[in-house]
Amino acid sequence: MREKFIAGNWKMYKNRTEAVAFAREFRKLYEYSGVRAAICAPYLHLESLKGIFDGTEIKVGAQNMHFEDEGAYTGEIAPGMLEELGIDYCIIGHSERRQYFGETDETVNRKLAKCFSTSMLPILCVGEALEERDAGKAFQVVERQVTAALEGISAEKAGMLTIAYEPVWAIGTGRTATPEQADEMCGFIRKISEKLYGEQTGEKIVIQYGGRVKPGHAADIMNMPQIDGALVGGASLKPADFMKILRYVQER
Ligand code: PGA
Repeated sequence: MREKFIAGNWKMYKNRTEAVAFAREFRKLYEYSGVRAAICAPYLHLESLKGIFDGTEIKVGAQNMHFEDEGAYTGEIAPGMLEELGIDYCIIGHSERRQYFGETDETVNRKLAKCFSTSMLPILCVGEALEERDAGKAFQVVERQVTAALEGISAEKAGMLTIAYEPVWAIGTGRTATPEQADEMCGFIRKISEKLYGEQTGEKIVIQYGGRVKPGHAADIMNMPQIDGALVGGASLKPADFMKILRYVQER
C-alpha cells in the first residue's frame, strides 16, 4: 500500500514572520493521520521550518533548484545548498516555472536526475494547458511530459518518485477538474509509469492531484482510486485549512 502524501506549495507567499507563525501553529495542530505531510516553502524560510518541525513527521520541501552543482548562475539555488539544510523534497517542473521561467521538458529532466542524486526526493509536476485539453490533447501532452522527464532515470529511482498531476487550467483560475477527470489522468500516469518501468515500479510511484484542492472537497479527490495525494497551493497557507485537508478522512 502506498502511503498517502499531501504537500503544500506556498509559492511566493509569506514573509519570514508569517512563515514562522504558520509553522509554530501548524506544529501544535499537527498529528499524523496516516498521510505524509510536507510544506514546500520559499528558500528563505526552509531553515526556520526545518528547525520548528524538528522532531515531528512534517517534511519540508523547496519549490525549485538548479540542475548544476554550482556555478555562475545569478539568483539560482544549488541542490547541495538545500541538501545541507536537510530538505526532504523539491518540486520539479511546476507549471508556473514552465510558463513564466522558461522551463522545458529538457531542463525538467536534468533537474529530476540531479534531484535523485541528492538526499531530496522530487515531486514532478505535469499537466496540460486549457487549449491542449480543449483540443483533445491532454493525454498526449501528459504522456510526453512524463516520458521526457523520466528519460535516463533508473527504475530504482523512479520507484521513489512523486508525480503531481496539475491541469494548468485548474490552478488559480476558478475552474476545477472533477474528481473523475483528476482520477482518469492519474490512472493514465500510472499506466505510463508501468509502461516505462514495469508494474512493480509503477505501483510504487505516488500520484498526487493538484489544482484548487480545498478542505471542503479534499475527501472527494483523495478517495478516488487512482489518486494518492494532493499538491495544495492556496489552501496550504492557513494551518487549520491545511490540517483539515490532511485529516480528509474524518472531514468526510
Ligand atoms: P492551487 O495551487 O491549490 O492554489 O490551485 C496548486 C499548485 O499550483 O500547486
